[in-house]
Amino acid sequence: MLNWNTSHLLCGCCLLLVLVRVSGHTGKKGAKEQIVPQGVPTGYSEVQRQLEAFTDLSKQYWHYISCRLWQEDCVKEESESLQGWSLALMGQDYLKILANWYCSISTCCETGDCRISNNITGLKLDLSRRLHGQHLTQEVVLKAVQNFLQLQQPEKALTLSFHGWSGTGKNFVARLIAENLYRDGMKSACVRIFISQLHFPHTSYLDSYKVQLKRQLREIIGRCKQPLFIFDEAEKLHVDLVDALKPYVDHSDDAGEDYRNSIFLFLSNIGSNAINEVARNFWRAGRQREEITLEDLERPLRAEMSSATGSGFAHSQLFTSGLVDFIVPFLPLEYEHVKLCARDVFIAQGLPYTKEMLDEVARMMIYVPKEERLFSAQGCKSVSQRINYFVS
Ligand SMILES: *[C@@H]1O[C@H](CO)[C@@H](O)[C@H](O)[C@H]1NC(C)=O
Repeated sequence: MLNWNTSHLLCGCCLLLVLVRVSGHTGKKGAKEQIVPQGVPTGYSEVQRQLEAFTDLSKQYWHYISCRLWQEDCVKEESESLQGWSLALMGQDYLKILANWYCSISTCCETGDCRISNNITGLKLDLSRRLHGQHLTQEVVLKAVQNFLQLQQPEKALTLSFHGWSGTGKNFVARLIAENLYRDGMKSACVRIFISQLHFPHTSYLDSYKVQLKRQLREIIGRCKQPLFIFDEAEKLHVDLVDALKPYVDHSDDAGEDYRNSIFLFLSNIGSNAINEVARNFWRAGRQREEITLEDLERPLRAEMSSATGSGFAHSQLFTSGLVDFIVPFLPLEYEHVKLCARDVFIAQGLPYTKEMLDEVARMMIYVPKEERLFSAQGCKSVSQRINYFVS
């Protein structure tokens, strides 16, 4: 048996989890319409209203959702005791305190789903301070995400394809988006990353991958109305797999549920030669890299993509029929950018550093092309490992 304190604590936590669950939940249609108020809940009174609504929940439904949310604990010891008490016993004061506390610790409530924070200010700040050498990415990503989130009802899912060499920040930007749009960042129940080599390695299993992929999309849209899907190593995705995503990106009836509030990111190195060539030509002409515009890059990038044999993504209908809203180029990084990455790592790890140490780390990287040694071949990748080696 649990003592009084423990069970009250549990009770509070369960309620929170239920709130989290139901406010973003679209799976159980009937239940949802009953208990989740329509429209966007705002602030404290809404939370309290939702909490009150839960007192009417049947024990069975309560148990079902609490177990789905809180699997380990529930399965281990709570299942019996949870069934043993009734929510209706909780007084109004208790609910008020709980709602108060809940809103004080979370940044939720404005979006109607406490897991979704949609912090554009934070995204803007992160893109300008933590991402180095990518003036185009900063601008395009911010504008695309901001405009998308402002729409009452988007026509289709926001779809961005990130292009560039490894280590230039594609994964990093995907993470910044996740961290600013979702309370739990990459760990959020709303965020799912698919890595081609890891999740879809063998072409012979293509049919089963397609089934799995669709099932996972359905699962996530079932528990989160604004999901973020990240496809890493998109250049290695089979063309059929990419096109299996088309109905979800394009808001077609085949998708079943409404995916229009979703965000799809495709990360690949396709087109990076074209990007690097443009950057190199600017340097040779004595021009600033910040002068490079999207227009300068788009044509060569698309040309390289259309000639990229063996890349399913480049030849997918999803890409060629214009379902990708923005092409986001990542420029190759120079010596100075590697130093900035090194500085960030020192700061993040709480290690003291000097200018000489940053130079030393940056000098450890290999720079290409042979003649000019302009760009770090691995971008900022493995900078932290090098620093660990350096300080140990
Ligand atoms: C948004 O992000 C900024 C910068 O990280 C932070 O200071 C602010 O508290 C965040 N706002 C919300 C509502 O989370």
